[in-house]
Amino acid sequence: MSVDTAAPDHIGYLDAAAAVPLAQDYKQRTVAALHIRPGDTVLDVGCGPGTDLARLADAAGPDGTVIGIDADPAMVEEATRRFAGKPAVRIQPGDAHALPLPDASVDRARIDRVLQHLTDPSRALAELHRVLRTGGRLAMAEPDWDTLAVDDPDTDTCRAYARYVADNVRNGVVGRQLARRATEVGFTVERVDATVLLFRDFTSAERVLGLRRVAARAVRDGVLAQAAARAWLDRLATGPCLAGFTFYTVVAVR
Ligand SMILES: C[S@@+](CC[C@H](N)C(=O)[O-])C[C@H]1O[C@@H](n2cnc3c(N)ncnc32)[C@H](O)[C@@H]1O
Repeated sequence: MSVDTAAPDHIGYLDAAAAVPLAQDYKQRTVAALHIRPGDTVLDVGCGPGTDLARLADAAGPDGTVIGIDADPAMVEEATRRFAGKPAVRIQPGDAHALPLPDASVDRARIDRVLQHLTDPSRALAELHRVLRTGGRLAMAEPDWDTLAVDDPDTDTCRAYARYVADNVRNGVVGRQLARRATEVGFTVERVDATVLLFRDFTSAERVLGLRRVAARAVRDGVLAQAAARAWLDRLATGPCLAGFTFYTVVAVR
Protein backbone atom coordinates (compact mmCIF):
# COMPACT_ATOMS: atom_id res chain seq x y z
CA MET A 1 0.00 0.00 0.00
CA SER A 2 1.00 3.55 -0.35
CA VAL A 3 -0.32 6.62 1.35
CA ASP A 4 -1.65 8.05 -1.87
CA THR A 5 -1.96 5.35 -4.51
CA ALA A 6 -4.42 3.53 -2.26
CA ALA A 7 -6.92 6.38 -2.59
CA PRO A 8 -10.08 5.00 -4.17
CA ASP A 9 -10.34 8.00 -6.49
CA HIS A 10 -6.70 8.40 -7.39
CA ILE A 11 -7.23 11.15 -9.97
CA GLY A 12 -9.41 13.12 -7.55
CA TYR A 13 -6.76 12.68 -4.87
CA LEU A 14 -3.94 13.95 -7.14
CA ASP A 15 -5.98 16.97 -8.25
CA ALA A 16 -6.90 17.87 -4.67
CA ALA A 17 -3.34 17.39 -3.38
CA ALA A 18 -1.89 19.51 -6.20
CA ALA A 19 -4.31 22.35 -5.38
CA VAL A 20 -2.94 22.74 -1.83
CA PRO A 21 -0.85 25.98 -1.73
CA LEU A 22 2.24 24.16 -0.38
CA ALA A 23 2.12 21.80 -3.37
CA GLN A 24 1.63 24.66 -5.82
CA ASP A 25 4.68 26.32 -4.29
CA TYR A 26 7.11 23.39 -4.63
CA LYS A 27 5.82 22.50 -8.10
CA GLN A 28 6.38 26.07 -9.28
CA ARG A 29 9.88 26.10 -7.77
CA THR A 30 10.92 22.81 -9.39
CA VAL A 31 9.63 23.90 -12.81
CA ALA A 32 11.47 27.26 -12.49
CA ALA A 33 14.69 25.40 -11.55
CA LEU A 34 14.54 23.51 -14.87
CA HIS A 35 15.26 26.78 -16.78
CA ILE A 36 13.06 25.60 -19.65
CA ARG A 37 13.83 27.43 -22.90
CA PRO A 38 11.36 28.11 -25.72
CA GLY A 39 11.40 25.13 -28.07
CA ASP A 40 12.67 22.63 -25.48
CA THR A 41 11.48 19.04 -25.30
CA VAL A 42 10.33 18.52 -21.70
CA LEU A 43 9.51 15.15 -20.13
CA ASP A 44 7.31 14.49 -17.08
CA VAL A 45 7.70 10.89 -15.87
CA GLY A 46 4.72 9.64 -13.88
CA CYS A 47 2.66 12.60 -15.08
CA GLY A 48 -0.56 11.34 -13.48
CA PRO A 49 -3.66 12.99 -14.97
CA GLY A 50 -1.42 15.70 -16.44
CA THR A 51 -1.07 17.72 -13.22
CA ASP A 52 1.97 19.73 -14.33
CA LEU A 53 1.89 19.48 -18.11
CA ALA A 54 0.24 22.87 -18.74
CA ARG A 55 2.90 24.59 -16.63
CA LEU A 56 5.64 22.84 -18.62
CA ALA A 57 3.95 23.62 -21.97
CA ASP A 58 3.72 27.32 -21.05
CA ALA A 59 7.45 27.37 -20.35
CA ALA A 60 8.40 25.51 -23.55
CA GLY A 61 6.22 27.80 -25.68
CA PRO A 62 4.55 27.08 -29.04
CA ASP A 63 7.70 25.53 -30.54
CA GLY A 64 8.31 23.24 -27.57
CA THR A 65 7.17 19.68 -26.93
CA VAL A 66 5.96 18.26 -23.63
CA ILE A 67 5.89 14.50 -23.14
CA GLY A 68 3.90 13.04 -20.27
CA ILE A 69 4.50 9.37 -19.49
CA ASP A 70 2.59 7.22 -17.00
CA ALA A 71 2.28 3.49 -16.38
CA ASP A 72 -1.37 3.62 -15.29
CA PRO A 73 -3.80 3.43 -18.25
CA ALA A 74 -6.40 5.46 -16.30
CA MET A 75 -3.87 8.30 -15.89
CA VAL A 76 -2.87 8.15 -19.55
CA GLU A 77 -6.53 8.27 -20.57
CA GLU A 78 -7.31 11.24 -18.34
CA ALA A 79 -4.18 13.21 -19.32
CA THR A 80 -4.95 12.50 -23.00
CA ARG A 81 -8.49 13.79 -22.48
CA ARG A 82 -7.28 16.94 -20.75
CA PHE A 83 -4.75 17.76 -23.48
CA ALA A 84 -6.81 16.78 -26.52
CA GLY A 85 -6.32 19.35 -29.27
CA LYS A 86 -2.94 20.48 -27.89
CA PRO A 87 -0.42 18.88 -30.26
CA ALA A 88 2.54 20.26 -28.30
CA VAL A 89 1.61 17.95 -25.41
CA ARG A 90 2.12 14.24 -26.07
CA ILE A 91 0.88 11.64 -23.60
CA GLN A 92 2.41 8.16 -23.76
CA PRO A 93 1.93 5.00 -21.75
CA GLY A 94 5.25 3.80 -20.39
CA ASP A 95 7.27 2.50 -17.49
CA ALA A 96 9.77 4.77 -15.72
CA HIS A 97 12.14 1.76 -15.54
CA ALA A 98 12.27 1.49 -19.38
CA LEU A 99 11.31 4.82 -20.91
CA PRO A 100 9.89 4.52 -24.46
CA LEU A 101 12.19 7.29 -25.74
CA PRO A 102 15.48 7.37 -27.67
CA ASP A 103 18.81 8.27 -26.06
CA ALA A 104 19.55 12.01 -25.74
CA SER A 105 16.12 13.07 -26.99
CA VAL A 106 14.98 15.33 -24.12
CA ASP A 107 16.20 18.75 -22.87
CA ARG A 108 14.47 18.92 -19.50
CA ALA A 109 12.78 16.33 -17.25
CA ARG A 110 10.95 16.10 -13.99
CA ILE A 111 9.77 13.27 -11.78
CA ASP A 112 7.42 14.21 -8.95
CA ARG A 113 6.46 11.73 -6.18
CA VAL A 114 6.95 8.71 -8.44
CA LEU A 115 10.29 7.25 -7.28
CA GLN A 116 8.79 6.50 -3.84
CA HIS A 117 6.55 3.88 -5.50
CA LEU A 118 8.98 2.20 -7.92
CA THR A 119 10.58 -1.21 -7.53
CA ASP A 120 13.93 0.26 -8.66
CA PRO A 121 14.26 4.06 -8.31
CA SER A 122 17.91 4.06 -9.43
CA ARG A 123 16.99 2.24 -12.64
CA ALA A 124 14.44 5.01 -13.37
CA LEU A 125 17.10 7.67 -12.71
CA ALA A 126 19.48 5.86 -15.07
CA GLU A 127 16.73 5.96 -17.70
CA LEU A 128 16.30 9.70 -17.19
CA HIS A 129 20.07 10.08 -17.59
CA ARG A 130 19.92 8.10 -20.84
CA VAL A 131 17.12 10.12 -22.45
CA LEU A 132 18.41 13.56 -21.41
CA ARG A 133 20.85 15.40 -23.66
CA THR A 134 24.20 16.46 -22.24
CA GLY A 135 23.59 19.60 -20.19
CA GLY A 136 19.92 18.63 -19.75
CA ARG A 137 18.31 19.35 -16.41
CA LEU A 138 16.30 17.07 -14.13
CA ALA A 139 14.07 18.11 -11.22
CA MET A 140 13.00 15.51 -8.64
CA ALA A 141 10.57 15.85 -5.74
CA GLU A 142 9.98 13.17 -3.10
CA PRO A 143 8.94 12.95 0.55
CA ASP A 144 10.77 11.36 3.48
CA TRP A 145 8.06 9.49 5.37
CA ASP A 146 10.36 8.73 8.32
CA THR A 147 9.91 12.40 9.24
CA LEU A 148 6.12 12.35 9.39
CA ALA A 149 4.95 13.98 12.61
CA VAL A 150 1.38 14.45 13.82
CA ASP A 151 0.59 16.27 17.06
CA ASP A 152 -1.93 14.79 19.48
CA PRO A 153 -1.86 14.06 23.23
CA ASP A 154 -1.96 10.34 22.31
CA THR A 155 1.68 10.22 21.21
CA ASP A 156 1.65 6.41 21.00
CA THR A 157 -0.98 6.55 18.24
CA CYS A 158 0.93 9.39 16.53
CA ARG A 159 4.10 7.28 16.49
CA ALA A 160 2.35 4.07 15.44
CA TYR A 161 0.56 5.92 12.63
CA ALA A 162 3.78 7.56 11.35
CA ARG A 163 5.65 4.26 11.53
CA TYR A 164 2.86 2.53 9.61
CA VAL A 165 3.06 5.09 6.80
CA ALA A 166 6.87 4.90 6.58
CA ASP A 167 6.80 1.10 6.56
CA ASN A 168 4.15 0.88 3.84
CA VAL A 169 5.49 3.16 1.15
CA ARG A 170 7.86 1.11 -0.99
CA ASN A 171 10.71 3.65 -0.90
CA GLY A 172 9.57 5.69 2.08
CA VAL A 173 12.88 7.53 2.54
CA VAL A 174 13.80 8.09 -1.12
CA GLY A 175 13.64 11.87 -0.62
CA ARG A 176 16.87 11.94 1.37
CA GLN A 177 18.47 9.50 -1.11
CA LEU A 178 17.80 11.52 -4.28
CA ALA A 179 21.14 13.35 -4.41
CA ARG A 180 23.15 10.17 -3.81
CA ARG A 181 21.17 8.03 -6.23
CA ALA A 182 21.31 10.71 -8.96
CA THR A 183 25.08 11.06 -8.51
CA GLU A 184 25.51 7.29 -8.69
CA VAL A 185 23.91 7.13 -12.15
CA GLY A 186 26.03 9.98 -13.54
CA PHE A 187 24.18 13.24 -12.79
CA THR A 188 25.84 16.29 -11.29
CA VAL A 189 23.64 17.46 -8.44
CA GLU A 190 23.22 21.21 -8.52
CA ARG A 191 20.82 21.82 -5.68
CA VAL A 192 19.20 19.98 -2.78
CA ASP A 193 16.37 21.61 -0.84
CA ALA A 194 14.39 20.20 2.05
CA THR A 195 11.22 21.88 3.23
CA VAL A 196 8.64 20.84 5.76
CA LEU A 197 5.19 20.42 4.27
CA LEU A 198 3.31 21.54 7.36
CA PHE A 199 -0.46 21.45 7.69
CA ARG A 200 -2.25 23.45 10.38
CA ASP A 201 -5.77 22.58 9.34
CA PHE A 202 -7.33 19.14 9.14
CA THR A 203 -8.82 19.64 5.67
CA SER A 204 -5.44 20.23 4.01
CA ALA A 205 -3.74 17.51 6.06
CA GLU A 206 -6.49 15.08 5.14
CA ARG A 207 -6.27 16.06 1.46
CA VAL A 208 -2.56 15.24 1.22
CA LEU A 209 -2.06 12.60 3.90
CA GLY A 210 -5.40 10.77 3.71
CA LEU A 211 -5.40 10.44 7.51
CA ARG A 212 -8.81 8.76 7.77
CA ARG A 213 -8.16 6.29 4.97
CA VAL A 214 -4.66 5.35 6.15
CA ALA A 215 -5.77 5.08 9.80
CA ALA A 216 -8.55 2.70 8.72
CA ARG A 217 -5.96 0.52 6.99
CA ALA A 218 -3.74 0.62 10.06
CA VAL A 219 -6.71 -0.56 12.15
CA ARG A 220 -7.42 -3.31 9.63
CA ASP A 221 -3.77 -4.39 9.80
CA GLY A 222 -3.84 -4.47 13.61
CA VAL A 223 -1.40 -1.57 14.00
CA LEU A 224 -3.87 0.87 15.59
CA ALA A 225 -6.70 0.07 18.00
CA GLN A 226 -10.04 1.10 16.52
CA ALA A 227 -11.23 3.19 19.51
CA ALA A 228 -7.88 4.96 19.83
CA ALA A 229 -7.75 5.68 16.09
CA ARG A 230 -11.29 7.06 16.10
CA ALA A 231 -10.62 9.33 19.10
CA TRP A 232 -7.33 10.46 17.53
CA LEU A 233 -9.03 11.38 14.24
CA ASP A 234 -11.89 13.15 16.05
CA ARG A 235 -9.48 15.31 18.03
CA LEU A 236 -7.45 16.16 14.91
CA ALA A 237 -10.60 17.03 12.96
CA THR A 238 -12.12 19.24 15.65
CA GLY A 239 -9.21 20.64 17.63
CA PRO A 240 -5.98 22.36 16.64
CA CYS A 241 -4.25 20.26 13.97
CA LEU A 242 -0.56 20.02 13.17
CA ALA A 243 0.92 17.45 10.81
CA GLY A 244 4.01 17.65 8.64
CA PHE A 245 6.85 15.86 6.91
CA THR A 246 10.11 16.73 5.17
CA PHE A 247 9.92 17.02 1.41
CA TYR A 248 13.03 17.03 -0.78
CA THR A 249 13.47 18.73 -4.12
CA VAL A 250 16.67 18.09 -6.03
CA VAL A 251 17.94 19.56 -9.30
CA ALA A 252 20.60 17.69 -11.27
CA VAL A 253 22.37 18.19 -14.58
CA ARG A 254 23.18 15.47 -17.14
C1 LIG B 1 1.83 10.36 -6.67
S1 LIG B 1 1.43 10.21 -8.35
C2 LIG B 1 2.17 11.73 -8.96
C3 LIG B 1 1.56 12.20 -10.25
C4 LIG B 1 2.09 13.54 -10.75
N1 LIG B 1 3.53 13.50 -10.94
C5 LIG B 1 1.71 14.66 -9.79
O1 LIG B 1 2.62 15.31 -9.24
O2 LIG B 1 0.51 14.89 -9.59
C6 LIG B 1 2.51 8.96 -8.97
C7 LIG B 1 2.30 8.65 -10.44
O3 LIG B 1 3.33 7.76 -10.87
C8 LIG B 1 2.76 6.80 -11.73
N2 LIG B 1 3.62 5.62 -11.76
C9 LIG B 1 3.76 4.68 -10.80
N3 LIG B 1 4.64 3.74 -11.19
C10 LIG B 1 5.08 4.10 -12.43
C11 LIG B 1 6.01 3.56 -13.35
N4 LIG B 1 6.67 2.41 -13.09
N5 LIG B 1 6.24 4.19 -14.52
C12 LIG B 1 5.56 5.34 -14.81
N6 LIG B 1 4.65 5.91 -13.96
C13 LIG B 1 4.42 5.30 -12.79
C14 LIG B 1 1.38 6.55 -11.15
O4 LIG B 1 0.51 5.95 -12.08
C15 LIG B 1 0.98 7.97 -10.74
O5 LIG B 1 0.32 8.63 -11.79
